[in-house]
Amino acid sequence: MSANLYDLQVELLFGGTADPMRRRILAPLKQGLNAFSSTPPQQIRILDIACGTGRSLKLIRAALPKASLFGTDLSPAYLRKANQLLSQNPGELPQLLQANAEDLPYQDSYFHAVTSVFLFHELPPTARQQVIEECFRVTQPGGVFIICDSLQMSDSPEFIPVMENFSAVFHEPYYKHYITDDLRERLEKAGFTNISTEAHFMSKYWLAHKPA
Ligand SMILES: C[S@@+](CC[C@H](N)C(=O)[O-])C[C@H]1O[C@@H](n2cnc3c(N)ncnc32)[C@H](O)[C@@H]1O
Repeated sequence: MSANLYDLQVELLFGGTADPMRRRILAPLKQGLNAFSSTPPQQIRILDIACGTGRSLKLIRAALPKASLFGTDLSPAYLRKANQLLSQNPGELPQLLQANAEDLPYQDSYFHAVTSVFLFHELPPTARQQVIEECFRVTQPGGVFIICDSLQMSDSPEFIPVMENFSAVFHEPYYKHYITDDLRERLEKAGFTNISTEAHFMSKYWLAHKPA
């Protein structure tokens, strides 16, 4: 059974588990980190905002065993679960902090990469922009920001009924706006460049670079 409500939603609606969707951040993450190939792997810092119960951090730890990992979330209950899950892994424990992604408690340009999985559909539009601005601020020049979230309306009109169902059944108040929102425009407004997107079944990915 699912570790959190989001996974349960995904399983009920889409008949799959969310981990394969999370796993798709790994390739662009590794690709983005190639820009720092002269940095020792243990000095690479990666932040997962809204890390929830730590499922993405677990996948990142397996893919990048030496990197320094950080996770933040609003929910202390989720962070406690994340701590349990990540403690089962060998290697250094990610540093977990309770924090609002709209106001990250890190200095400018601290991270080589920042990831966000299944957060943006939960945020009101102004918070979406503020979170993107904060992720830009804490990313190093030359670093990357990767977003994984739900598919949007323009990607796949045939899935519109499924998306509308998700919004209604699970009382996600901002999802309806999210599926029409232009995150590329928001990323550009914050200063990110070289932005690419990919859609896979019900999930969508943005890879954005902070200019070097
Ligand atoms: C759908 S869950 C996804 C969690 C995790 N990324 C995953 O893939 O399992 C959304 C998460 O966003 C967190 N969250 C919502 N708004 C937030 C905010 N403004 N700042 C930080 N975390 C937030 C929630 O507490 C929750 O853990």
